[in-house]
Amino acid sequence: MPAQSITSLDLQNKKVLVRCDFNVPIQDGKIQDSGRIDASLDTIRYILQHGGSAILCSHLGRPKERSPELSLKPIAEYLSAALSQKIVLAPDCIGDHTGKMVEALKPGDALLLENLRFHREEEANDRDFSHELARHKQVYVNDAFGTAHRAHASTVGVTRFIAQRAAGFLMMRELEALRAVTENPERPSIAILGGAKVSDKIGVIKNLITKVDAILIGGAMAYTFLKAKGIAIGRSRVEDDKIELARELLALADSKKVKIVLPSDHIVAAEPEANLSTYSVSEIPSSMMALDIGPRTVEAFIAEIGRAKTVIWNGPLGFFEIPAFAEGTLKVGEALANQSGVKSIIGGGDTAAALAHAPWANKFTHISTGGGATLEYLEGIELPGVKALDV
Ligand code: 3PG
Repeated sequence: MPAQSITSLDLQNKKVLVRCDFNVPIQDGKIQDSGRIDASLDTIRYILQHGGSAILCSHLGRPKERSPELSLKPIAEYLSAALSQKIVLAPDCIGDHTGKMVEALKPGDALLLENLRFHREEEANDRDFSHELARHKQVYVNDAFGTAHRAHASTVGVTRFIAQRAAGFLMMRELEALRAVTENPERPSIAILGGAKVSDKIGVIKNLITKVDAILIGGAMAYTFLKAKGIAIGRSRVEDDKIELARELLALADSKKVKIVLPSDHIVAAEPEANLSTYSVSEIPSSMMALDIGPRTVEAFIAEIGRAKTVIWNGPLGFFEIPAFAEGTLKVGEALANQSGVKSIIGGGDTAAALAHAPWANKFTHISTGGGATLEYLEGIELPGVKALDV
């Protein structure tokens, strides 16, 4: 049976191991974007209010060994403020000392374990480490959608040792949103795909071609498709070794009657740098590179969105890190956010980074907290962290 929700569990007097994805950007000890932490707060509160004690765990970064700059200390401080109760950071995620701290917890208490990846056994999905992580806990809740594509000890291994398990509210919201676009979506259903490389999106395009009515393509990867169609792309970024593949994907879409909309005009510059003169063209001069979709393309994309009932978006449409090339992404984003009667699902990672802080972002149906996990889901790959919750 697919993952059940946390609401089906009896949490009273139970020690609950909660896998969160607190892998957030931190600079000089300061959290730069707390979105992922905030998105798990309702799960944590629910456990505490239902008589459980929450033992929170997460990875942060990709440490090879214990390193102080990747300690979860700033997360413990943030959680203490957000939950209005002291969240102590255990010095490790396993071991006797941590075990005693877990045993001492009372219903309504929460403890944060130190970075799981300070032990290489976490990523190796090591059996003994999983057993140790499960020690003293009676219930397992996975709320780490962003890490659900990893088969690690804390996302898969522990489920061998804790029989009572469920998905947290964030995990449920993420899965529900993605199912809405991949399983019988309300039609017309469209995908907006962007980002740098076709090679990153091959699986997604192939899978979505069987599920959506149209795919709108922007970002640097559009130029590999345009070159495949024999259109001059100047010095735009292109994957020459993927041109044949781009041709095959266009033919596949055609055979499935899925409309592919490519940019018809572009914002170009000599280099992807701020403060260089930029202008809009329909034919890219040989000395220029395209760095964003142009106004005519924005209009065409918005017109497609206007007809859609379901929209899934993965990847920015231009070099959005530089404001001069973020306009296309933001204009299409604003139109989608303001469109009524459409289910709009925004992928995590770069897509969320490009759109989540705009003033209208709260109007999207869902903004995912998972970059890699969303991509793998959209490729049709079963996420091991979700599969492990099956009961
Ligand atoms: C992410 O940020 O995508 C997740 O937290 C997974 O992190 P990882 O790519 O280091 O496994």
